[in-house]
Amino acid sequence: MPHEVLRQAKQEFLDWDGSGFSMLETPFTGDAFKKVLHQARDDLRELLNIPDNYRILFMHGGASAQFSLVPLNLLGSARSVDHIDTGYWSSKSLREARRYCKVHVAASSADSQYDHMPENWKLSPESAYCHFTSNETANGVQFHQIPETGGVPLVVDMTSDFLSRPLDVSRYGLIYASAQKNVGPAGVTVVIVRDDLLGKAHPATPTVFNYAAQAEADSMLQTPVTFSVYLAGLVFRWLRQQGGIATMEQNSLRRSSSLYQVIDDSNGFYCCPIQHGHRSHMNICFSTTNDTLAPVFLSEATSEGLMYLKGHPVMGGMRASLYNAMPDTGVMALIEFMRSFAEAHRYDI
Ligand SMILES: Cc1ncc(COP(=O)(O)O)c(C=O)c1O
Repeated sequence: MPHEVLRQAKQEFLDWDGSGFSMLETPFTGDAFKKVLHQARDDLRELLNIPDNYRILFMHGGASAQFSLVPLNLLGSARSVDHIDTGYWSSKSLREARRYCKVHVAASSADSQYDHMPENWKLSPESAYCHFTSNETANGVQFHQIPETGGVPLVVDMTSDFLSRPLDVSRYGLIYASAQKNVGPAGVTVVIVRDDLLGKAHPATPTVFNYAAQAEADSMLQTPVTFSVYLAGLVFRWLRQQGGIATMEQNSLRRSSSLYQVIDDSNGFYCCPIQHGHRSHMNICFSTTNDTLAPVFLSEATSEGLMYLKGHPVMGGMRASLYNAMPDTGVMALIEFMRSFAEAHRYDI
């Protein structure tokens, strides 16, 4: 979370907007919360230039719930969906979709240990939509271009790169993202869905997870995660003050390229398993060529105040996540540490 946002939340924690109440105790049915939710939604629309024929929903359940809710809501009379298999999260989403329909894997990079994003998608004409994951948080691989799909609705799990770069929303049928990377605190999930995809939900879909019903009820069919929506709204405001999404893209390009440079210039001391041109600008996965140095790296980094660098359990090694709130100073501190660690252990590889 950006410090400015945390400071503002602290300042108004006991007295939101002169109301004498905390946003934590404000009922969702009252005008105060509705104002907060509508402002958050309008700011997000403005930030991403979201066309009028798309609804913005604030839902419960995280991106993992969307793995089920997407097929439940969008399958309609179709029996199959396309999925692109690119790593840990896309594999999870396609396994979950298999509980509801036939899943046709239209492209996969599993054969090369998910070291790139496949460009050649073989879509099935019977499928209701094509699902992909724009950034694989655990593997550190990201789509930098999306193939043309010729009118097939594209559904994207954008959890870990949402709001980090400009986006042509009109290319997608549905976009979803859990909040806990670039939006705000855990708890709220943003869903952006095109109008014509609403109204096809399977009759067994729980009403609170029915996109059309939530769109109709302004995301307030049940009690929304009010405090998370409020904090997300503060983040959207902060993003606008920073110069919007274009600034976030410049930041992430600058920060990620300087980190990859240290890895590539380390004479084999560090390595990144992801092919150039496919590397994530959000999650930089790397390891020490000598595996035994990884725990030493992590423990020395922690003593220097460089926290949470351990890689995802499926990947091992290290991972530096450069979400929007990460300041340049944090990246510079990591770079300095990586250089001096390599220097100190030069003869251990
Ligand atoms: C790309 C991606 N998809 C889905 C998820 C799961 O999100 P949640 O824990 O909110 O269900 C994550 C979590 O890190 C993720 O990075």
